[in-house]
Amino acid sequence: SKATAPETVIGNAGQLEQQAAPGDEVLTTAQGVPIDTNQDSLTAGERGPTLLADFVLRDKIFRFDHERIPERVVHARGYGAHGTFESLADLSDTTRAHLFGKKGRKVPAFVRFSTVAGGRGSFDLARDVRGFAVKLYTEEGNWDIVGNNIPVFFIQDAMKFPDLVHSVKEEPDRGFPQAQSAHDNFWDFVGHMPEATHMTLWQMSDRAIPRSFRFMDGFGVHTYRFVNADGKSTFVKFHWKPAQGVQSVIWPEAVKINGADPDYHRRDLWDAINSGDYPQWDLAVQLFDDETADRLPFDVLDPTKIIPEEDVPLQVIGRLTLDRVVDNEFAEIEQVAFCTQNVVPGVDFTDDPLLQGRNFSYLDTQLSRLGSPNFTQLPINAPKCPVANFARDGHMQTEVPKGPVNYEPNGYPVGERGPRPDQEASFHSFAEPVEGTTRRLRPESFGDHYSQARVFWISQTPVEQQHIVDGYVFELSKVQKPEVRAEVVANLRNVDEDLAQQIADGIGMPLPEASKPFMPVRTDLPPS
Ligand code: HEM
Repeated sequence: SKATAPETVIGNAGQLEQQAAPGDEVLTTAQGVPIDTNQDSLTAGERGPTLLADFVLRDKIFRFDHERIPERVVHARGYGAHGTFESLADLSDTTRAHLFGKKGRKVPAFVRFSTVAGGRGSFDLARDVRGFAVKLYTEEGNWDIVGNNIPVFFIQDAMKFPDLVHSVKEEPDRGFPQAQSAHDNFWDFVGHMPEATHMTLWQMSDRAIPRSFRFMDGFGVHTYRFVNADGKSTFVKFHWKPAQGVQSVIWPEAVKINGADPDYHRRDLWDAINSGDYPQWDLAVQLFDDETADRLPFDVLDPTKIIPEEDVPLQVIGRLTLDRVVDNEFAEIEQVAFCTQNVVPGVDFTDDPLLQGRNFSYLDTQLSRLGSPNFTQLPINAPKCPVANFARDGHMQTEVPKGPVNYEPNGYPVGERGPRPDQEASFHSFAEPVEGTTRRLRPESFGDHYSQARVFWISQTPVEQQHIVDGYVFELSKVQKPEVRAEVVANLRNVDEDLAQQIADGIGMPLPEASKPFMPVRTDLPPS
């Protein structure tokens, strides 16, 4: 049927606007030209060739040809939702972040949950770490807490990240792992990386197969800083605690679910929110000072370590509620860009060498992924507070700055001179004392790779321990190279002899000699 040409009027901005009821617009080309059919291309004669003159066809195909953008280099598969974050504490003594200046302050939030290793089309219930990335649109700019559902990381230094990810992704010669769901390359890498032992135990535990996004913790992982109005710093660790509780599936269930419904986790979040069952998380923090940090038997800058809650208890300071699904998966979930360097006044970094590398990596990769430095103008990424600076131009600039001034300082009068720095309201980097000479050598304080892995193991119930053993046995039994299996089990002998023995028995291999720890393993730390 033929569409009727729209009635046109001159809009406020002097542009031609098409008058149509929302949802009942006339179909147009990308240039806004109304079109009479969406079915047939322009041909010469009844059965003749398609004409180059058919700009309607070319416009449509051109837009379609460029619909895909690169997937994230990690965390490619994810799902997200909108919500609200409410501060439940006045922390003005500890941080000058406006959000925590008063109990009850609320800001809009967007969250993206993800798996790490699989591509965008992979299944939801992989045994994998889950990303837990939160964007808080505060009055003082966007604050991203880009975390995972496991409180520690595989490596201590950003220098190792590309190797870790290469080992975890599909094998480059064939484009899939060497064996079903398990990688020789991954186990080879972690076998050579004793610092990965702690996180690998978590990964073999039930935590890596959550029942759904709604039933998992989130962790900022790194030690960050809160900084108050006097410039005083307090170390802070971020924890998201689900009001729904933490629940997992077991591996045979995960395998079945992946076969029956590979979108199980995204569907679960969508269904819950649409049925009014809004998931919630408490934001809890561990706050501690330099003296406490010095007293702890490991380095708080080492992201392979937790801060035991017995030493520094959790304190709830806010609540996140997810209550709105996205309008469009691509525009919001795919185009959202999180970055650890997105902090607000009152929040700052520490010298954790993994965090420092991340602060570079996210912005950098997003230029490739989203194609333009102006991705901060996309609705999902745009701050909901005023943005004013002299950044200009670039691909896909959608703003139209007015006036002759694009630099600062300048002598133009108020009203024309543009934005100026302000001491009072601004972000000030924490004035950290630094010393020493440059070097490329990890500190000795990062040298204990097994003691906390051991604490994690002995903290598990017998059923949970059995699941960890089963996880290792399943994964390692798929590993083809015997020396790779031996390397992993040799490391695990430093965690617990019984654990190592059960795994060796499970895969039918003799117990290898224990690997030599860099530092003595502490057996005096209590379960947590
Ligand atoms: C995503 C780099 C460690 C959590 C990403 C992306 C990169 C990256 C390049 C893709 C971002 C994008 O395309 O938008 C790194 C580097 C790391 C590191 C270089 C270490 C040096 C970590 C750690 C965590 C983490 C320790 C957790 C605490 C995430 C999450 C996402 C992500 C949650 C997905 C964000 C989203 O949903 O869009 N990472 N990462 N990463 N990373 Fe990391």
